[in-house]
Amino acid sequence: MSGKKKKVRVLMVCLGNICRSPTAHGVFQHHIERAGLTDVIRVDSAGTGDFHIGEKPDKRSRAAAKKRGYSIGGLRARQVQPEDFEKFDYILAMDDNNLRDLMLLCPKPHRHKLSLFMEFADSNYSAVPDPYYGKGDAFELVLNLVEEASEALLAHIMIHDLNG
Ligand code: 4NP
Repeated sequence: MSGKKKKVRVLMVCLGNICRSPTAHGVFQHHIERAGLTDVIRVDSAGTGDFHIGEKPDKRSRAAAKKRGYSIGGLRARQVQPEDFEKFDYILAMDDNNLRDLMLLCPKPHRHKLSLFMEFADSNYSAVPDPYYGKGDAFELVLNLVEEASEALLAHIMIHDLNG
């Protein structure tokens, strides 16, 4: 038997792919690396909207992430593509609007892959609030929630997909 393990693929999704989902991408990537699981878990991010395609994450997201030791400056915004629904095992929306938009786009056989990212965390928040027009600390809240959900998602994948 070949020793090649199946990869678990995670897609983080928000509206613009410049604030919340690139933050989730960078933070979850950090968790994957710290756990030594870069060979088996892959993370990517995308937006339901098309207005920021090709852009770096928002300056405020980059600054907030950097303060906590995450580097997200190399990421570039892209829009969710039809093939993403095939390719990814977990497609995680940051808020209810993102989830609704994904539901409309996603072919039925893949709909079980969709959920809110915060569903994995034991938090008072069910969604990661859009920080784009928010005050400065909105970006700190994004990081707090994303860190909490990333830890919980990693534990979930280790138990359910990687046999403990
Ligand atoms: P994100 O935030 O969905 O977390 O990337 C937003 C980015 C841009 C806009 C809205 C939300 N916008 O309206 O341009």
